[in-house]
Amino acid sequence: MLILGIESSCDDSAAAVLEAARPGEALVRSSVVANQDDIHRAFGGIVPELASRNHVVTITPVVERALAAAGCKLNDIEAIAVTRGPGLVGSLLVGLMYAKGLAQTLDVPIVGVNHLEGHLLAPLLEHRIAMPFLALVVSGGHTSLFVVSGFGQYREVGRTRDDAAGEAFDKVAKMMSLGYPGGRIIDELSRRGNPLRVKLPRARIKGAPLDFSFSGIKTAVATLLRSEGAVGIAAEDLAASFQETVVEMLIRPTLAAARQFAVSTIALTGGVAANSRLRTRLAEAAAREARHLIAPSFKYCTDNAAMIAMAGSWRLLRGDRDSLEIDAEANLPL
Ligand code: KG4
Ligand code: ZN
Repeated sequence: MLILGIESSCDDSAAAVLEAARPGEALVRSSVVANQDDIHRAFGGIVPELASRNHVVTITPVVERALAAAGCKLNDIEAIAVTRGPGLVGSLLVGLMYAKGLAQTLDVPIVGVNHLEGHLLAPLLEHRIAMPFLALVVSGGHTSLFVVSGFGQYREVGRTRDDAAGEAFDKVAKMMSLGYPGGRIIDELSRRGNPLRVKLPRARIKGAPLDFSFSGIKTAVATLLRSEGAVGIAAEDLAASFQETVVEMLIRPTLAAARQFAVSTIALTGGVAANSRLRTRLAEAAAREARHLIAPSFKYCTDNAAMIAMAGSWRLLRGDRDSLEIDAEANLPL
């Protein structure tokens, strides 16, 4: 089944063509992402109205590029999978309305996909993974642990109590005037820094060993930057120390969950899964316990439409279709 995936939940307009054979088994024929970093950079964060207006402009060319790269025409598309939440509602509506219009014109089935399910199943785009597996979804909007025991069977076993890890990366980068988007910049800067130079608090939540908290470390960096103590600390050392602490705060609950639910495979997914230090250290920590870490390529870690097509594919393959009345939901639960 040739599936067109469409994603516009935040600031990336994305389209992909996926050739799905069986649930979880698919070939990515193309995956195109148009990011809006240049538009939001001046504001140091995403401006929702600008994001949705820009989706209106980019969605058609992005879909056309995805079709061309896949070597197919619109008429070859047999089904459409589109993100319907969670995310910025104005952004979601652009992709959803576009997808509905296409589905109606082509007379093909459409399914609305939860963006988080996309991240959870992204590792399947490149790997065969036996279920159950544990997924750490770590992005700008989410930091959660899920046990994935089948398609559509996702149990959230840990979550952040406040900020998402990606949000902490972005906010700390902003405080340090490093630019936008912050995660990738901190990752690159940290390569030249000493991760032991600055001691930062590692939050642990009493009685909830599988949960996360990142607001404390963010405040600690803000307090440090306002104090005299910041004088003489090189930006790369602070970046590396911050990154190392966040990485440790992500690893501990992840391994605790893997032990508690007796899963041997851990999948790392979401935008922060692109972090080089997190990938290395989590892989090492998992290997020490004879567990196996699977992390998607960078292009499938951050928002993309191939993962949305993958998450829609198992339902489309069994004949499900949503009505054209599906709506966007900013807080769609998984
Ligand atoms: O999954 P994603 O593209 O969008 C959301 O659904 O949030 O994730 C974006 C987040 C941003 O917070 C960005 O700073 C972070 O992922 N990110 C990184 C890296 N690359 C992207 N964080 C740390 N290290 C990176 N290399
Ligand atoms: Zn995302």
